[in-house]
Amino acid sequence: MQKKIVLLGSGELGKEFVIAAQRIGQTVIAVDSYEGAPAMQVADGFEVINMLDGAALDAVIAKYQPDFIVPEIEAIRTERFYDYEKQGITVVPSAKAANFTMNRKAIRDLAAKELGLRTANYRYATSAEELQKAVAEVGMPCVVKPLMSSSGKGQSTIKTQDDIEKAWKYAVEGSRGDVVEVIVEAFVNFNSEITLLTVTQNNNPTLFCPPIGHRQERGDYQESWQPAHVSDAAIDEAQDMARKVTEALGGAGIFGVEFFLADEGVYFSELSPRPHDTGMVTLAGTQNFNEFELHLRAILSLPIAEITLEKTGASAVILATGSGKPKYTGMEKIAALPRTDFRIFGKPTTRPYRRMGVALVNDTLQTPVEEVVEKAKDAAKLVVVSEK
Ligand SMILES: Nc1ncnc2c1ncn2[C@@H]1O[C@H](COP(=O)(O)OP(=O)(O)OP(=O)(O)O)[C@@H](O)[C@H]1O
Ligand SMILES: [Mg+2]
Repeated sequence: MQKKIVLLGSGELGKEFVIAAQRIGQTVIAVDSYEGAPAMQVADGFEVINMLDGAALDAVIAKYQPDFIVPEIEAIRTERFYDYEKQGITVVPSAKAANFTMNRKAIRDLAAKELGLRTANYRYATSAEELQKAVAEVGMPCVVKPLMSSSGKGQSTIKTQDDIEKAWKYAVEGSRGDVVEVIVEAFVNFNSEITLLTVTQNNNPTLFCPPIGHRQERGDYQESWQPAHVSDAAIDEAQDMARKVTEALGGAGIFGVEFFLADEGVYFSELSPRPHDTGMVTLAGTQNFNEFELHLRAILSLPIAEITLEKTGASAVILATGSGKPKYTGMEKIAALPRTDFRIFGKPTTRPYRRMGVALVNDTLQTPVEEVVEKAKDAAKLVVVSEK
């Protein structure tokens, strides 16, 4: 069984996905907006296009006639996916899943209104005036996010009346896409947040990975760990919500379902119908299959019998500080550490806070996860990114 896959988005998550696919003899064409992107370095072929341009996307699909289209990012003209599905191409996990999650509105209304999942109280606004009204309705503090954005771009917290105007301007600047609209959500005073990797299969039951904990800063994750401490009751609640929302979106593949764990219960936050950045912790060998292998197997309808937790693990990001062509020092230092591994993604350029690599540490299941996180943070600091 050799399938042709067009991968839309060629970052570090895409690169690991391509490696997983290559290992079992699949063909992958990696697409992104710039040449030399991480996944292109390991793929069978590549294309450089603006993926928000529907005509450019159509041309690539027509050229390769793939069996599967695997989106790796949100910023794609996903409306086109319904047509590709009609042409007999499988969009992963489904055209609906990709389309509903490229804009926060569709997925939030599906989760909260249609499926009745617990989410933060929310409203939408298309102007500073509407935002005033929306804030009055959800109350302060609250979080404002452009409907089309990721990695915390354009996101801010409103604590006082004076913040509203600023939050609107910031959201407009951080928004991708032509229409500017924001969601304003009541601030959830959570104790922790988790990603529940959920694997839907074509002819087999939906499986869940052990919960992944993570810490966010400037809109991006800094460390993630597995397993996260979560009560059995909260796991049940989260799994139940993840099952409902992935079922409604359809298709087979891995989903990163994000939840907030608060005293009053579990809140559904958002979801990515693809491997999740916090799931890079699975590259530390925490599970029998990492999240990329799971995604691939689910896509190819290769049955996954079970997902087992093998080790406690943590990942910590390696970030750039400057702008230019990257140079790395300290690899021999991190390599010398026991139970430690790392990835350098091979991105051609740096910019401040750009994720360039990740440190991966594991230990026995008896080891407290906090200890493993500390080791991963220390390990990540050993690799220094500078410019040539
Ligand atoms: N309503 C909220 N209450 C409290 N904290 C929030 C709320 N919404 C978001 N956050 C915080 O901001 C982070 C980013 O929010 P969210 O996941 O919605 O945005 P994002 O831009 O899609 O991020 P990413 O693409 O990195 O997942 C969350 O992981 C959480 O830490
Ligand atoms: Mg998120």
